[in-house]
This record gives sequence, C-alpha cells and structure tokens, in this order.
Amino acid sequence: MNGKLDKLRHKIAESKLGGGTDRIESQHKKGKLTAHERVRLLLDEGSFEEIGGLVVHRTSDFGMDKQKVLGDGVVTGYGTVNGRLVYVFSQDFTVFGGSLSETHAEKICKIMDLAMQNGAPLIGLNDSGGARIQEGVRSLGGYADIFYRNVMASGVIPQISAIMGPCAGGAVYSPAMTDFTIMVEHTSYMFVTGPNVVKTVTNEEVSAEELGGAQTHASKSGVTHLTADNDLDCIEKVKRLLAYLPQNCEEKPDHRPFETGDEFRPGLREIIPPNPQSPYDMREVVNGITDEGSFLEIHPDFAENIIVGFARLAGRSIGIVGNQPMSLAGVLDVNSSRKAARFVRFCDSFNIPLFVLVDVPGFLPGTDQEWNGIITNGAKLLYAFSEATVPRVTLITRKAYGGAYDVMNSKHIGADLNYAWPSAEIAVMGAKGAAEIIFKKEIQSAENPAAMALEKEKEYQELFAHPYLAAERGFIDEVIDPAETRRKLIKAFAMLENKVVRNPRKKHGNIPL
Ligand code: HXC
Repeated sequence: MNGKLDKLRHKIAESKLGGGTDRIESQHKKGKLTAHERVRLLLDEGSFEEIGGLVVHRTSDFGMDKQKVLGDGVVTGYGTVNGRLVYVFSQDFTVFGGSLSETHAEKICKIMDLAMQNGAPLIGLNDSGGARIQEGVRSLGGYADIFYRNVMASGVIPQISAIMGPCAGGAVYSPAMTDFTIMVEHTSYMFVTGPNVVKTVTNEEVSAEELGGAQTHASKSGVTHLTADNDLDCIEKVKRLLAYLPQNCEEKPDHRPFETGDEFRPGLREIIPPNPQSPYDMREVVNGITDEGSFLEIHPDFAENIIVGFARLAGRSIGIVGNQPMSLAGVLDVNSSRKAARFVRFCDSFNIPLFVLVDVPGFLPGTDQEWNGIITNGAKLLYAFSEATVPRVTLITRKAYGGAYDVMNSKHIGADLNYAWPSAEIAVMGAKGAAEIIFKKEIQSAENPAAMALEKEKEYQELFAHPYLAAERGFIDEVIDPAETRRKLIKAFAMLENKVVRNPRKKHGNIPL
C-alpha cells in the first residue's frame, strides 16, 4: 500500500513540475515557461490551490490507455493576485501538446463554474494544439461546454485570455468570447485554419506568424488587445489589467486612496495646435488629466484613430475613449467604431465610468467604408454609448462634427456631463465644406470665387466653429479652461459615483452586430 502511495506522490510531484525535466526543457527551449511556472508567476506566492491535479483522461483508443499523465494537460485552480481571488487554468503543451480532451475540458469547466458562482475573474493561460485528435467528438463537445460557459460568464465576471502558444481551429473561439486577449510575440499564434489548409484551399503561401501571430492580430484583425514580449511580460500585463477591474458585475472597481492636491494642469493649455488642421496626440491629453502613469492603453496597434484604455482619476478606475487626431485625423471608421463599442460595453458591464475625449471630423467617406458596413459598425458605437448606464463624462477638445458629434457620448444619448474647451468646434461639418455647399451660388457668381469662398468660410467659422451655441442650448454643460480639466473631472466623477439609471426592461437589446 505504502509503495503505491509513494509512486502516486512521485507522479504528482513530477506532474506539478509541468511533467518531468525533459518536458520542462522542451518548453524552455522554445522560450516558453511551463504551465506551473506561469501559474506561480501570476498568483501571489503560496496562494495557489490546485484542483483536479489527479485527473487523467478516459480514452483507450490509439493506445492512449498506456499514456496517462496526471492533470491531463491542464493545471487548474484558484489563488490570489495582489490579494484578490482569481480562478486560473494553464494548459500544459508538454502533455499531448496541451490538447483538449473530454477530461481536460471538464477541469476547465469546473473552475469556470466556481468563478461564476463565487464572482471572481477567470484567467486562461492558453497553450494548446486544439482538440485532442484521439478523442474525436468528445473533445469537440468539451470545447462547446467551455464556449457555453464563456458566454454565460460574459458580463458577470471578467475573463482574460493569455495566448502563450498555439491556439488553432475552433479553440480560438473561447478566447474570442472572453473580454481581453493578450498574445506573446513569436511563440503564440491564433487561426481557424493553419497555413497548410490555407495553401490547399486558396493556394496562398503564408507563415503561421504572418497568418495569426501576435503582430497580425494586434494590428490587422484586432483579435488581440495587447501583445507581450515574452511569458513574463504577458503575465505582468494580465496583472496590470486586473487592477482596473472589479471582481464581478455586482461590484465597483477598487478606489485607490488618493489625496487631492494642486490639480491645476497648465500644460493642457499648450496641447491643441493653433492650426485646427494640425494633429496632436490625444494620449497627451489623457496623460495630462489622469493620475500620473496610470493610463493602460488597450488595443494600441489596432484602429489607431481611436484610443481606448483604462486609467485612474484621483485613484478611481475609469475607462477612456478618445478620438486620435494623429491617425486619419481622428475620423470614425469601421474598425475604430467596433473597437470603441466593445470597450464601452465592457466598461458598462463592469461598472467602470467612462471618460470620452472628442476631436472628430466625422465618419470616413468612401466605397471601402460603405461596402464594409460603416453604417452598421458606426451604429455599434452609437448603440453601446446609448445603452451604457455607468457615469459618462465627455470633453470636446476640438472638432465635433456631424453624426460623430452625436455618437461620441453626446448629451442627447445619455452622457451625464459634457465639457468643451474653448477650442471646440461643434457643427454639422467643417467650415470649408459647409461654406462651399450653402454659399455655392454666391461663390460661383462672385468676381473672385476663391476670395468669396474664403470669406464665406470665415463667416461660417465665426458663426458656428465654437462651443458657445451648443452651451447656449445646454448640450455642453460648461466651457472650461483646459488647465482646470483635471479638477473638474475629479469632482464630476465623485459626484456621479452613485448614479442609478435603469434602461427599459427587456430580454436583451439587438445591437447591430
Ligand atoms: C493530440 C496533439 C495535438 C492534438 C499536438 N499534439 N496537437 N495530440 N491532439 N490536437 C501532440 C503531438 O502529437 C506531439 O506529441 C506533441 O503534442 C507536440 O506536438 P508537435 O507537433 O511535436 O509540436 P510542434 O511542432 O510545436 O507543433 C505544434 C502544433 C502541431 C502546431 C500545435 O502539433 C499541430 O499542428 N497540432 C495539431 C493542430 C490541430 O490541427 N488541432 C486540431 C484543430 S481543430 P508527441 O507525443 O510526439 O510529443 C480543433 C477543433 C476544435 O481544435 C473545435 C471546437 C469547435
């Protein structure tokens, strides 16, 4: 009996190390950490409690009954990150390529259920060759069991996916349904069909990296929200992200202690260039207003014409959405609308107040945009803001033109407080275009059409290109000195802290997907 126990203990010890020295080395050689090392890095020291470490698969096909490894290729359990409870699964590529068997899936589902029932975030560290081929439909069923739980957990607890190795086939859909995905550069990739299938079906030659590597998904598809240099960096980013989030949808994010001091920021007066056509970096405005070093940009390489991310304002976690004049003059297009809409919905799900910075010349025109559904996609952002019930504050720094004025968290769609800097221009369109349309006849019949066009443009500008007409109507609550912005916003978000708004009762809305 004792011999049997010793054997089992030895097996467990081996399994806890990620499965034997050879297997550890094979991971390290690829620049990857083992499943257990990753868990240990993520969680506070000594806090990890493993669940299901003795589970093995139940398959005997293809001689699998002779190849059983404790834990069956995934480490699951719970622990704390900076003292806060989280549930974690970490796939072990050294065991059947981290492939997902029926029992592997059951282990993940068990901690997903616990995470939901106990209201704590779920962190998935993915490193897997997909469905375990030897198990056929049982592994496909296992995936579907996970997908279903991803959806049920959506909006209930934060779900974060770190992609730290292969993630192929239908396996990609679990991360896709979580809130945030972080991919490790050069060692991870995600695709529905790999390069070989692509070659067979479309005759395209493409490497795994190009098809579905971290950079591809960060900049082209937007599938990943962040990239990481290596496993260590990836885990650090997961932890940093968690710090802005509440444990579940019933809680508010934690409010760090903060003593208000001199909140006057004269540097903010210098950011808007004198020429209204010149770009500037909206991140400078964000950094100038929020607590120093607190801005964590999400999706920084995708749809760069809009910025989204988390920051702190006097210790309070807030979500930032801002047009970025440095890229495409800050226009709204298909991708920026999708990016921002998803972020707004995340913040709203988890009680994170929204701060929206506006400098937008309108929607991007063109066949590419129209044919790719700028109507439906732009509507997503409009919809997301309109249904958000968290505190919502807007600042118009410069342009707020056309439909984009409405979309970018205007008062009309439920924003609580709308501020403008004196440099704000709120109009149906830019002065030049507007003058050319409404003064067409005068310009055409003038002795000097160019001079007349310029004169009419000026006339329009003086009449409309400022925030005071909007303020007169109450669409803007106050025109503020940029240097006072931080002070105003700290007070505004504190005032809105206990906001309660209930949208009409319904099963769910029908966002234009
Ligand atoms: C069983 C698998 C496996 C899998 C890898 N292994 N993937 N075992 N099922 N899906 C095993 C290998 O046999 C090998 O075992 C070990 O894991 C390491 O794999 P290697 O190929 O040696 O590693 P590497 O060269 O790094 O290549 C990794 C890989 C490749 C690119 C992931 O293994 C691969 O292409 N695997 C198959 C991917 C795939 O097609 N999966 C199914 C996708 S469809 P040994 O014993 O030799 O060490 C899918 C459907 C989900 O997932 C549907 C949900 C709706």
